[in-house]
Amino acid sequence: MTPAIVARDLGRAFKDKVALEGLNLEIPRGEVYGLLGPNGAGKSTTVRILCTLLMPTSGSARVAGYDVATDPTNVRLRIGAALQATAIDGLQTGREMLALQAKLYNVRPAVAKKRIAELESLIDLGSDFDKRVSTYSGGMKRRLDIATAMLHRPPVLFLDEPTTGLDPRSRQQMWDEVRRLNQELGVTILLTTQYLEEADALAHRLGIINEGRLVAEGTPHELKRTVRDDIVVANIKGDARRAEAALAAIPGVKSVTALAERIEARASDGAQTIGPVAMAIQKAELELTDITLRTPTLDDVFMELTGGHITEGENESIR
Ligand SMILES: Nc1ncnc2c1ncn2[C@@H]1O[C@H](COP(=O)(O)OP(=O)(O)OP(=O)(O)O)[C@@H](O)[C@H]1O
Ligand SMILES: [Mg+2]
Repeated sequence: MTPAIVARDLGRAFKDKVALEGLNLEIPRGEVYGLLGPNGAGKSTTVRILCTLLMPTSGSARVAGYDVATDPTNVRLRIGAALQATAIDGLQTGREMLALQAKLYNVRPAVAKKRIAELESLIDLGSDFDKRVSTYSGGMKRRLDIATAMLHRPPVLFLDEPTTGLDPRSRQQMWDEVRRLNQELGVTILLTTQYLEEADALAHRLGIINEGRLVAEGTPHELKRTVRDDIVVANIKGDARRAEAALAAIPGVKSVTALAERIEARASDGAQTIGPVAMAIQKAELELTDITLRTPTLDDVFMELTGGHITEGENESIR
């Protein structure tokens, strides 16, 4: 079977700014693929190329079997997209927007009615569903946008940061819907996110993108396994940085990250290291509030690959 999405050496430059370089992707049908990366990594550029909204400056890509550059019409018929920056017509109501989308894609009226009723409960707008979109909050628009992308049941769906700006309850509903579309209808989904937790929860496979390049790819489990070490986390009253050198000197400790009141030590055998870490903190005359051992998270993988942290809740901006 042809894969749902294939990219070969795909690149995009804007004047002298290289937004994307040498991207290779092969996403089989039925997969949820997460593209994870910080601001400016190239996520939206990738999605916009795959949705035929932006021409690549190098390489090629096929979506649902068609070339995005030479056969964009056939690609567009088979995809749905909820992009980061979309122009929603503010004069229409939410319900009218969905009805229009149904017409554009030749969805039969009876089918459209049923789907709109289903999506109505997902987007959960209550009586606002019949109010003008110009009165919606950012989160409400976002939910409507995603419902619009799904109405014609495309086999391939692109969601660019679908939950950025949503409150926790709406985010959970969106996750449920992504899973439902994938499991019940077999929709292939490429989603981008800055949230490691989201990538971990939704994606079968993940690509970590940084500065326009794919720096790692695998299942969340595989990626976490690439960081083999345990992490000893100590919370401290006072300036944890005072214990930094002492912790770094403990045999088996590979690296130490000290923040104001917390210090983390990476070690191949966390259980053996936890005692020496506690002692070193006491010796530095700092008060230990608690000490725990954790296994690596995607955040650690990301840190290792890019030297930077993605922080939950940062950069909460939409459109
Ligand atoms: N039209 C454009 N003209 C010039 N530079 C652009 C343009 N679009 C994107 N870029 C640059 O390309 C890089 C990648 O941008 P992109 O929007 O793909 O990032 P992103 O991963 O989606 O980031 P975010 O998380 O902020 O949405 C950035 O450095 C951006 O400034
Ligand atoms: Mg983006």
